[in-house]
Amino acid sequence: MKKISLKNGVFITFEGGEGSGKSSQIKLLDSKLNKLDYETILTREPGGTAGAEAIRHVILSGSAEKLGADVEAMLFSAARSDHVEKVIRPALKSNKIVLCDRFYDSTRVYQGVTSSVDMEFLYSLERIACDDVWPDLTLILDLSVEEGMKRANARRSEDTVPDRFEKEDMQAQEIRREAFQKIAEKEPERCKLIDASGSEKQVAKRIWEVVEPLLERKSAKNG
Ligand code: TYD
Repeated sequence: MKKISLKNGVFITFEGGEGSGKSSQIKLLDSKLNKLDYETILTREPGGTAGAEAIRHVILSGSAEKLGADVEAMLFSAARSDHVEKVIRPALKSNKIVLCDRFYDSTRVYQGVTSSVDMEFLYSLERIACDDVWPDLTLILDLSVEEGMKRANARRSEDTVPDRFEKEDMQAQEIRREAFQKIAEKEPERCKLIDASGSEKQVAKRIWEVVEPLLERKSAKNG
């Protein structure tokens, strides 16, 4: 059966803090879109290609921490560049919907805000890594830090070691939440703040209320 394809695809990124439910929600949206016959790819950052997954390991293990936050930002961007060229751009060219778990807003927030990397430097890295592949929509899952930590702790098994960024304290998580909120305020066309409290089903409904009109707009342009 012929799948629905939208000219030049649609690029949707998911952002949010610890325990915000990003990963579950991206999967729910992916399966909903597939049921509706849209062609999708689900991917994540850092990662998505063999090279980017190797960089992911270097960063999240904490091995790059001693090189400093500027270098970490460069590594995230190098991984992004590979991911954009090998996965995201080709998928959009073949008219697919790309769902990506984290993208450059995470670099702005984690490296730019909580690790104090210069924003202008990060914007330059974005331009190089994205090379004109920009998200159509960014869904920012917003949840109180307490609730997010509760969810993340419940999910983490006793023997799982927290990664480089999960080790950071609640104050850093609070600063990140506010930074994501500010991005949503500054770029209301691209970014939508989604209330991530409540049940999975309730959050999925809030997400669909934003995604459905975007797909309708894109389909209308195609027609
Ligand atoms: P991951 O296991 O994918 O966590 P999450 O479920 O929180 O998305 O780990 C990715 C970690 O890397 C996460 O703590 C956020 C951080 N990160 C950055 O610091 N900068 C970035 O540009 C990206 C993409 C992620």
